[in-house]
Amino acid sequence: MEHIISLTPRQIVSELDKYIIGQHDAKRNVAIALRNRIRRLMVKSEIQKDIVPNNILMIGSTGVGKTEIARRLAKVANAPFTKVEASKFTEVGYVGRDVESMVRDLVEQSVALVREVKNEEVKVKAAEAVEELILDILIPPVKSAGFTRNSIPADTDSEPSNDAELNERTRERFREKLRNGELDDRKIEINVKASSPVGIGMIGNGMMDDASMAGLQDMISGMMPKKTKKRKLSISEARKVLLEEEASKLIDFDEVKEEAIKLAENNGIIFIDEIDKIASKSGKNGGGPDVSREGVQRDLLPIVEGSSVNTKYGVINTDHILFIAAGAFHVAKPSDLIPELQGRFPIRVELQSLTQEDFSRILREPKNALTKQYQALFEAENVFLEFNDESIEEIARLAFLINQEVENIGARRLHTVMSHLLNDFLFDVPDTIEANSRIMITKEMVQERLTTLVKNRDLSQYIL
Ligand SMILES: Nc1ncnc2c1ncn2[C@@H]1O[C@H](COP(=O)(O)OP(=O)(O)OP(=O)(O)O)[C@@H](O)[C@H]1O
Ligand SMILES: [Mg+2]
Repeated sequence: MEHIISLTPRQIVSELDKYIIGQHDAKRNVAIALRNRIRRLMVKSEIQKDIVPNNILMIGSTGVGKTEIARRLAKVANAPFTKVEASKFTEVGYVGRDVESMVRDLVEQSVALVREVKNEEVKVKAAEAVEELILDILIPPVKSAGFTRNSIPADTDSEPSNDAELNERTRERFREKLRNGELDDRKIEINVKASSPVGIGMIGNGMMDDASMAGLQDMISGMMPKKTKKRKLSISEARKVLLEEEASKLIDFDEVKEEAIKLAENNGIIFIDEIDKIASKSGKNGGGPDVSREGVQRDLLPIVEGSSVNTKYGVINTDHILFIAAGAFHVAKPSDLIPELQGRFPIRVELQSLTQEDFSRILREPKNALTKQYQALFEAENVFLEFNDESIEEIARLAFLINQEVENIGARRLHTVMSHLLNDFLFDVPDTIEANSRIMITKEMVQERLTTLVKNRDLSQYIL
């Protein structure tokens, strides 16, 4: 499978390290799980089919990196990924089928990934075709008998050939102009496919699931005559529209579907968040919400264990999809899940609470660290934001303190603190803080802006 990037477990961990601070145990385990899937695909014997993924249960309080690890893992693996909240399945009106929607989402992601790859593959060819199309519009091919651009008539000594030659030369001149963008703003008229206005939402309502609905929709719009309409666009806009059309002509969509299903089956990752919210407190068999929670767990079982799910792209088997479930498990314990489901998540990893030291690293080190994000925002207006070391320490200290005093929301606290710290600057750029200024955040500034809030519990509850 061409989409698999075969990183070793160590390499996977070091990729994750670029974004997530600490949590080594969790990183190790997800890296092993990921590598195991590649190993499985390399197994030649019959036993390959029997090797099932070791699904992972991540346990840790809010904002310590559970979702982030799963999301990054999927990126690293270039794997289709989808995230669901288990608790949403307990809402009123839920039907068993809903649980399958996560698999359909996954396939949807997979199709997008495969399409992207295919688009890349046909990009050059499509661009060539588009160039010819635009040239045809700019300089309509000469009408002289029998002449088309690609087949120069045999008797090239006669008059029309001069026309043809002239035409060809003009064409080449325009091609050059086109390529170096000289004609980008010029308007041309192109035929674009009009999106079909047919909606069949009403007939199907409640009687069909999304998959068959979408299938029917596709079928009907397939049967309708393809309408085109003329649009006047600048060449640079027209190019985009035409590129998309040409690319999809070059891509075999059946192949995309097939590959996408395979990719999702072998590489897909489904992240089930808040799984603790569907665990019933042990011993009690009271009824009410507990019943529906157990119901959801039972609905999850076949999907996690391996079953076939219908999607509009075809049937997908969930046997080898990697499931990562996560929850805080403050109230319920993993042992409060029904035993069958516990068995499907044999690997348990506990994520550590983040320390003040972790906070200052999170502010600074990840590739997408908050300080870097804000710097980029300011730099977009040519304003240069800097933090001295002490200021970072102070932000980390205060964020940690607020977590202790008010509510522990993990690294998410850094977001609220930073936005409060920098809001005034964000408001003043570029009106009073003009381009090319430099803002230096110091420890004193942090204290000045945040300490009163920290001291006042009630205030910080609302503001931070
Ligand atoms: N260990 C970490 N390293 C770097 N950033 C982190 C870490 N933990 C959390 N973050 C940041 O904090 C935010 C929230 O993290 P995340 O979504 O992973 O939390 P979570 O553990 O899934 O929490 P919840 O239980 O509420 O879903 C993200 O923006 C993430 O970048
Ligand atoms: Mg989360």
